[in-house]
Amino acid sequence: IHNEVFSNSETASKLVAEEIASLIKQKQEKSETCVLGLATGSSPIKVYEELVNMHRKGELSFRNVITFNLDEYLPMEPEQQQSYHYFMNQHLFDHVDINPENIHIPDGTIPVEDIDQYCIDYEIKIKEAGGLDFQLLGIGRTGHIGFNEPGSHPNSGTRMINLNHVTRVDAASDFNGLENVPKKAVTMGISTIMKAKRVILLAWGHKKASVVKNTIEGSITSNIPASFLQNHSNATIILDSEAASELT
Ligand code: F6R
Repeated sequence: IHNEVFSNSETASKLVAEEIASLIKQKQEKSETCVLGLATGSSPIKVYEELVNMHRKGELSFRNVITFNLDEYLPMEPEQQQSYHYFMNQHLFDHVDINPENIHIPDGTIPVEDIDQYCIDYEIKIKEAGGLDFQLLGIGRTGHIGFNEPGSHPNSGTRMINLNHVTRVDAASDFNGLENVPKKAVTMGISTIMKAKRVILLAWGHKKASVVKNTIEGSITSNIPASFLQNHSNATIILDSEAASELT
């Protein structure tokens, strides 16, 4: 795994947005679709802002883009402000020319008895779209990517998981208290992510420094699911100086 350190997240996010935009354009020139795996949370916000700016300036169209989001809380209504549906509309989809039929975000309203089939279908849709050309990731303090919490198997696909306590504590302020944070989520699996042709993981700030060190310099272990990215042939971790501060 390869890592790049930037003095701040603005500069880094611009570079990531440029890579995504150039991939979209390359595919457009060949009349091909571009399949993007997308993340929510604070880390990718500036990347989306930059992509929206490019679209507003007339430099970038999303007409050939198909998206698959990593995860969604369970249960969760798409209209709820804490939902990843709401987040994606607010930060990206409402502002670009993507075909709404090309947007896929795990459905947080699926009844528990239907979830296994739903997750199998999500995997099939990714496959039928041609696989993920690019996957954008953040990282949780537990080492999760998507919501693949510690204990996640490298062969895991899209499935329902129990959120780690630390992850729920980190989300508590968004939900006005820990008791309101959902206990479960649907997430793409480690193997879903590993099959992406290109992976970029973003980590900003001192709170991520310790997990970033374990991810990059530690052993490959399901205790730190992000460490599986060490086995990916085309993954880059993009850091600001604070997140990189514990690297040797
Ligand atoms: C979000 C996701 C999570 C976040 C991670 C970091 O779709 O899959 O893995 O990327 O929890 O969140 P932030 O960026 O808010 O620190």
